[in-house]
Amino acid sequence: MFVKILPPEVRSRIAAGEVIESPADVVKELVENSLDAKATSVEVEISKGGKRLILVRDNGTGIHPEDLEKVVQEGATSKIESEKDLLNLSSYGFRGEALHSIASVSRMRIRSRFFQEREGYEIEVEGGEIVSRRKVGMPIGTEVEVRDLFFNLPVRRKFLKREDTERRRIADLLKEYALVRPSVELVFFSNAREVLNLKPSDELDRIERLFGRGFERIYREAGFLKVRAYVKRNVSRGELHLFVNSRPVSTRTFKEFLRKILGYKTLGVIFVDMPPFMVDFNVHPKKREVKFVKERKTLSLIRDALLSREEDVILHLDQEIPRYETEFRVIGQLDNTIILAQRGDYLYFFDQHLISERANYESLGEGKGADEIACRSAIKSGKRLSEKEMEELIETWKKLKNPHVCPHGRPIYYRIHLKDIYEKLGRSF
Ligand SMILES: Nc1ncnc2c1ncn2[C@@H]1O[C@H](COP(=O)(O)OP(=O)(O)OP(=O)(O)O)[C@@H](O)[C@H]1O
Ligand SMILES: [Mg+2]
Repeated sequence: MFVKILPPEVRSRIAAGEVIESPADVVKELVENSLDAKATSVEVEISKGGKRLILVRDNGTGIHPEDLEKVVQEGATSKIESEKDLLNLSSYGFRGEALHSIASVSRMRIRSRFFQEREGYEIEVEGGEIVSRRKVGMPIGTEVEVRDLFFNLPVRRKFLKREDTERRRIADLLKEYALVRPSVELVFFSNAREVLNLKPSDELDRIERLFGRGFERIYREAGFLKVRAYVKRNVSRGELHLFVNSRPVSTRTFKEFLRKILGYKTLGVIFVDMPPFMVDFNVHPKKREVKFVKERKTLSLIRDALLSREEDVILHLDQEIPRYETEFRVIGQLDNTIILAQRGDYLYFFDQHLISERANYESLGEGKGADEIACRSAIKSGKRLSEKEMEELIETWKKLKNPHVCPHGRPIYYRIHLKDIYEKLGRSF
């Protein structure tokens, strides 16, 4: 006989590799569990990039003493009862495999005090085996400590990256949960040094804490979905943080679709919310990939929302709500290249070539080579324009499907609030 049935502990160690490949994957699962347990404060500590130690402490509901030993078993979950529940998912967890997977490839200690109990309980697990159990004094909540990840899976351990790299991955991951749960306090220590300390706040405040000021907000409800986007255009390195139903999403094609709409030099934080049955997160064990039930419809609604130009949905957050006008007043042309115009409280700088290029591109349809043809036949920079021609170009701009970026992702315009100009001149606006 050549065929052998592997012993269960070996099988689960191998299967664990689907969910847990790195310390950041452990942090993700533990933090999601804390958030599912309604924690309002989550503390994460790591040492050696998480290779030696990962600890996540929360003040959530805790685990009932009778459940404590169960949670490290395969398929142990309190979050769903049957497959049907997957259609109405409101928790991060549903597979009942994260703690089991982590436990089978590490030395783990779980301490938890259920909210209706006077004491906490602790179990220690080594390579999936429960090795001790005792009572402990502790506040309500849960603390999971994971040491020596992959100590019993040397091949995997060898593939871990340098300490710095693993630490950066964890910090990036925590920022995503910080963005999506601004009301939760989040503290992060690495090698006993505090890296993040975020107090509970609201969405915009969190975003500004992490990325600075200067965001525009787009808030739109369209059909079955809601889109909230915070965008800062023309930054030196574009960055996109994407969440669907509060879950960080890294689906490449979807992100690329959004980058094309927003431009490659945009820092964007985008929240898409839709009914749970319209979206499937169970396409990958790590739940970072998303599939939409009505993909084309969903994408076109998202695109429309992001391209909306109505001033009542695009508020400049650092400034007061602009006086609303539809009319543009052309002021003139700079360098025979840039059209200067005013609308409401904003001064606009339009790139004449890019408006014309974008318009050609949209009328050609976004086929192969369309961008080149669009560019060649467009109005060139350096061409002097009459006032009438400028007005016409602005009219064209208003009708563009994507008024923000050219086919190659360069911004078509830049606008500045009059208040900023007044301020520079020491005048009050
Ligand atoms: N921090 C926590 N606070 C309270 N309960 C917890 C915590 N962590 C885990 N649990 C309990 O342990 C169970 C198992 O956790 P585990 O992460 O393995 O599975 P899950 O979250 O249900 O699903 P998934 O595998 O998709 O994450 C949870 O369903 C929950 O009942
Ligand atoms: Mg979980």
